[in-house]
Amino acid sequence: MQATRKRAAVISAVISAVCFWSASLPATTRPLYVRLGGEPVMTAVVSDTIDQVVADPRLNQSFKGSNIARIKRLIVEQICDLAGGGCHYSGDSMHEVHANHNITQAQFFGLVEILRSSMRRHHVPLRERNELLALLAPMAPDVIDVRAPPIPR
Ligand code: HEM
Repeated sequence: MQATRKRAAVISAVISAVCFWSASLPATTRPLYVRLGGEPVMTAVVSDTIDQVVADPRLNQSFKGSNIARIKRLIVEQICDLAGGGCHYSGDSMHEVHANHNITQAQFFGLVEILRSSMRRHHVPLRERNELLALLAPMAPDVIDVRAPPIPR
């Protein structure tokens, strides 16, 4: 009994030390996915974002008949993959998925803006918000339909 309690105390001390150590690591040595808040925060951020996009008449034309739960799950998985969270994105390529939906540049930036404010609401720090957006930005050419009109200036 005494030995078990002692072992539990040692294990708890080791876990606390590891947690303290990982929390105090500089931002750059912790994977972005961890700094974004991991799965609970990203699931909430993506869910809020897609709910808002689907409710917005300026953005939702291409979502009619889509499986929203699948889209949310795959975007979280994709972010986890891109941000070093150890996942493997199992969805279709960005080009395949978005081709023929006539998505405009304005709609792409509209979604990004909603994602940005959703991250802010869920207390994702500025640096991490920007790092994630920098990973998503190169997808623009695969999402935007070149035949759709560009943003009016
Ligand atoms: C960086 C921006 C974006 C990312 C990372 C992204 C990511 C994804 C992912 C992972 C899927 C699911 C793939 C699959 O089913 O295998 C998806 C589906 C979809 N996305 Fe995006 N997306 C982005 C921007 C947009 C924008 C701007 C729109 C429209 C305003 C859009 C409309 C859709 C639609 C309609 C589907 C479902 C297609 C279907 O069911 O055939 N996406 N997206």
